[in-house]
Amino acid sequence: MNDPTPPAMPEGNEELGTDVSNNPTFESVLRVRLSRRSILKGSFGIAASAFFGTSFAACRDGSGGTTIAPSSGSAARAMTLDFNAVAKSLADALSVPAGYTATVLYRLGDPIAAGVADYKNDGTDTAASFAQRAGDHHDGMHFFGIAANGKYSASVSDRGLLCMNHEAITPSYLHPSGPTVVGGVRTVADEVVKELNAHGVSVIEVSRSNGVFSCKKDSAFNRRITTFTDMALSGPAAKSPYMITAYSTDGSKTRGTVSNCANGYTPWGTYLTCEENWAGYFRRITALDNSKRSAKELAAFARYGVAGEGRELWATATAADPADTSFTRWNAMKLGTSTDGSDDFRNVANTYGWVVEIDPFNPASVPKKRTALGRFAHEGAWPGPVVPGKPLVWYMGCDSRNEYIYKYVSNAVWDPADADKGLTAGDKYLDDGKLYAARFNADGTGQWLELNFGSNNIAAANSAYAFADQADVLVHARLAADAAGATKMDRPEWGAVNPANGEVYMTLTNNNNSKRTIANVDAANPRFYNDPKGAAAKAQKGNPNGHIIRWAENSGDVAATAFKWDIFLFGARSSADAANVNLSNLTAANDFSSPDGLWFAGSTGLLWIQTNDGAYTDVTNCMLLAAVPGKVGDGGKKTVNNVDGATTKAVDTYVGAPLDDTSLRRFLVGPKECEITGLAETPDGRALFVNVQHPGEDTAPDFADPSSYGSHWPDGGVARPRSATIVITRNDGGQIGGTPL
Ligand code: FEO
Ligand code: CA
Repeated sequence: MNDPTPPAMPEGNEELGTDVSNNPTFESVLRVRLSRRSILKGSFGIAASAFFGTSFAACRDGSGGTTIAPSSGSAARAMTLDFNAVAKSLADALSVPAGYTATVLYRLGDPIAAGVADYKNDGTDTAASFAQRAGDHHDGMHFFGIAANGKYSASVSDRGLLCMNHEAITPSYLHPSGPTVVGGVRTVADEVVKELNAHGVSVIEVSRSNGVFSCKKDSAFNRRITTFTDMALSGPAAKSPYMITAYSTDGSKTRGTVSNCANGYTPWGTYLTCEENWAGYFRRITALDNSKRSAKELAAFARYGVAGEGRELWATATAADPADTSFTRWNAMKLGTSTDGSDDFRNVANTYGWVVEIDPFNPASVPKKRTALGRFAHEGAWPGPVVPGKPLVWYMGCDSRNEYIYKYVSNAVWDPADADKGLTAGDKYLDDGKLYAARFNADGTGQWLELNFGSNNIAAANSAYAFADQADVLVHARLAADAAGATKMDRPEWGAVNPANGEVYMTLTNNNNSKRTIANVDAANPRFYNDPKGAAAKAQKGNPNGHIIRWAENSGDVAATAFKWDIFLFGARSSADAANVNLSNLTAANDFSSPDGLWFAGSTGLLWIQTNDGAYTDVTNCMLLAAVPGKVGDGGKKTVNNVDGATTKAVDTYVGAPLDDTSLRRFLVGPKECEITGLAETPDGRALFVNVQHPGEDTAPDFADPSSYGSHWPDGGVARPRSATIVITRNDGGQIGGTPL
């Protein structure tokens, strides 16, 4: 999600073409052996061998026995960072370290089917063609290797399916002169159809030849999933009264997916796309609708933010055929006369906010929205250790300020024979399980609170919301987590699970003083400070730079209901007060703000950290960093003395062992006004896919003067900016970022 804070206008304008390799200003490669090696060695044990056991190894090609990591989690997986830090930059360019090459692979509008013309990028490409072009705002993604028999293999690196989300759009550049809006109404239906097609997910085949990746334009696997794609509702909330719409009068299905931010995957080779800040897409004028709604409906709308005209005003467009509900389905108001909502879209918002499972190896398959994982602003869904005979787990965050962290644990235990079963395996593991929300205690422990009807104050007697049944709990998971007493966090973004030991890391991207004052700091969200921005020293109060929390399940058991936590890393300017703000002692080589994307490289064990920032953008564009992880508890207790004017508040927290320039370094800086997001790698670790989202988004374009555009990346010249996937390789063919020792 884009930070609403606009960046300062950057200086300089270095244009680059599609080959953005080898920033020449960096020094030669330096290999540093890390003192933290011994710590890492200490972390490998039973959990490590379990994570890399036969479970993940099971491949749909039936070859079996191959792990997603090359070294089976042995103690030899301590690592180095094999690059020199990239400098902060405000240039309209993408920088990677010397010795690495970044190549643009898949841009907004690129065709994914034979016969589709190249993208003109002037707003005139047709609406219909977008069903076979790359969507906009590339976000979370995953690489699924393709075996020789055309099935999933967790070990193949040279050929694969890249699945990626298209979270949102920059409407200005999709149309000749921006969207046509007259009196608050979208008057050009075709423009809206183009936007509806530019959202969703891409599945594209990519392959590597002579070390270079390219997309296969005419692959039979290629697929666009959009806001038009038919989707089944699955799990306990399917076919419940909450899901009934004119599109599906039995509540068994819905149409499309939107606001697909981060992602996840399964050990059976399916992709999980997650619906994040979907609420804003719906039109619900409260002055007209509230009087028609029950108290429970109003409580739910308020908690999820379903109110307003709709972010892109889609519901205001008029279809040529009155029976076509392509636009009216974005109107969540009660307009019909039925008692159950079968004649309008009053319930449509309940069919969004889910984890959606897609089988990329079966292009004709109908995606399934897995309701057992709860409905909230799903950032992503990251699997934990996969062990035969044990339940499966996915960790999830709800991306809004003061929202919660969740986990889902399957009731079924993992059977590697299911690795070949596609969505049928999803029916077994993702439709039947326990949903929990996290409470972080002040003493460094935590609890998973089950969101189950009848438990943890989740009942009809709850004063804030009278729950009726488990479907009600899942559709209104935020309200259930409120009732259970989960801990409000500084805006949970991505998570990642350390393949070495199963510990979970999650970014808390930022918070501000309008949402969380100094009075509400707590152990897990311990900072309140001012981060003055730019020459005018604009006040940014709260936790504008964010942090990364991590936890270890008790006894390494994914089904545990208790855990231990600490804070791995705090974002800050390197110049900030080291005692209470720059708590991780960040330097020029690694200072950052607003951590968002996270990915543990299975090949090297490095933790990759991406930023989506609006606070430090007076100094630098968004970036990607690499970190050597430690272990929960490798640091200690710390008192943070927070100050807001005359108000002070001290809070005790738990922080990890300090990192330094050898264990945390900036690897990449993106072009102007972009977010760096979406990380995927080949199993061999020799190709890293990264998404550059919405370059130039914050500058309103003057279409008469293309040089006015906020960015021209990646095509250069005076081209319109395009979100794009890049692929990073090391010039010597080695693993990206570091080398296991
Ligand atoms: Fe789409 Fe949570 O960022
Ligand atoms: Ca994000």
